[in-house]
Amino acid sequence: MSTTDKELRVGMVGYAFMGAAHSQAWRTVNRVYDLPARARMVLVCGRDSGKVAEAADRLGWEEHTTDWRELVARPDIDVVDICTPGDSHAEIALAALAAGKHVLCEKPLANTVAEAREMAAAAATAQAGGARSMCGFNYRRVPAVALMRQLVAAGRLGEIRHVRASYLQDWIVDPQFPLVWRLRKEVSGSGALGDIGAHIIDLTQYVTGQQITGVSAVTETFVKERPLPSESSGLAAQADGGSAATGPVTVDDAAVFVARLGGGALATYEATRFATGRKNALRVEINGSLGTVAFDLERLNELEYYDATRPVAEQGFSRILVTESEHPYLSAWWPPGHIIGYEHSFTHQMRDFIEAVATGVDPSPSFAEALQVQLVLDAVVRSAELGSSWTDVEPALATVAA
Ligand SMILES: NC(=O)c1ccc[n+]([C@@H]2O[C@H](COP(=O)([O-])OP(=O)(O)OC[C@H]3O[C@@H](n4cnc5c(N)ncnc54)[C@H](O)[C@@H]3O)[C@@H](O)[C@H]2O)c1
Repeated sequence: MSTTDKELRVGMVGYAFMGAAHSQAWRTVNRVYDLPARARMVLVCGRDSGKVAEAADRLGWEEHTTDWRELVARPDIDVVDICTPGDSHAEIALAALAAGKHVLCEKPLANTVAEAREMAAAAATAQAGGARSMCGFNYRRVPAVALMRQLVAAGRLGEIRHVRASYLQDWIVDPQFPLVWRLRKEVSGSGALGDIGAHIIDLTQYVTGQQITGVSAVTETFVKERPLPSESSGLAAQADGGSAATGPVTVDDAAVFVARLGGGALATYEATRFATGRKNALRVEINGSLGTVAFDLERLNELEYYDATRPVAEQGFSRILVTESEHPYLSAWWPPGHIIGYEHSFTHQMRDFIEAVATGVDPSPSFAEALQVQLVLDAVVRSAELGSSWTDVEPALATVAA
């Protein structure tokens, strides 16, 4: 339980999937971690007054509004938490930073490199006035992923040779699934690539401490026309079959690419919404000269580790149950072996964000780091458009921050 009186008054825009996940984390974080500031859930924003009122009540927000500009303008809001689709990230974040607010923005940072550049520049300017900003790549905060990074950083894997990453879903295999916002480029920026590919790009760069320097990619849209949805819906939307009208899918259904990392490793990435039977299967394996680590989100509390420095007769993959108080984030949770889940990654994200803001340091991933992910996404799109030709990624940062 937090022992501080200092408050960080939060205003959140968007209250559906990520809005619910973030609300759960804001509600929980100070009850688990002792932090230098206490989050107060002041104001939530959505476009429908009835629905946002219901969401405020259900999720634990004191007040609600239908105008994000009102939220950003309110002097009693310290933090703006952006949980809307990508087409509104830049506008809301730029207004919030200009108003001197701290900003937490969901991934991918923006829909285009141009927007992401503007946001990173605005974040740098606002930082001089004390405003902090972070992008919500929450999988960094899964303890097993953070442990992977620690092992790599400590040199336990030696020189990194291979990175193998995939993020597989299957929620639009049915061609009758409606044309939700995630399938419309003007709202989402891209398809599987920016939605889930962005996660494995950030995660692998974070774990290895190396940036992607170039890519060769293919993308595909398997179902090019879909029924229009009866109303705007998110991931949980079901094929309603009620509408005969259809519209074009303007994003990729799948993106596959090979890449080189700055430290010399070769990497493969696969992001798809057409992996029948795979619901939310994020997997990463990293092979080094001294060992291997492998993570599977469906076994979120575990890390596979192969230590090639052990005597040959004792070598083999070991399963580390990442639930010890020595492991990242876990000292505040349950006794060893009492496992945690998906939502904890968001609580850990809020912990790190509050700690950074309250102690006046920059949280990570910064907008500059998220811009670098955007540059990779852009290189993938350009490579695919050019028949998979090798495409260098413009360097945005000297290093990936811890
Ligand atoms: N970190 C993760 O693992 C993760 C998972 C899913 C989604 N996301 C990201 O979170 C963001 C939101 O995705 P989601 O799945 O929560 O979508 P969603 O469709 O479930 O929710 C979007 C919300 O934004 C609101 N909204 C849209 N435009 C608005 C506007 N102009 N003003 C106010 N409210 C507005 C909608 O009413 C809705 O409440 C996206 O950037 C997405 O990529 C991240």
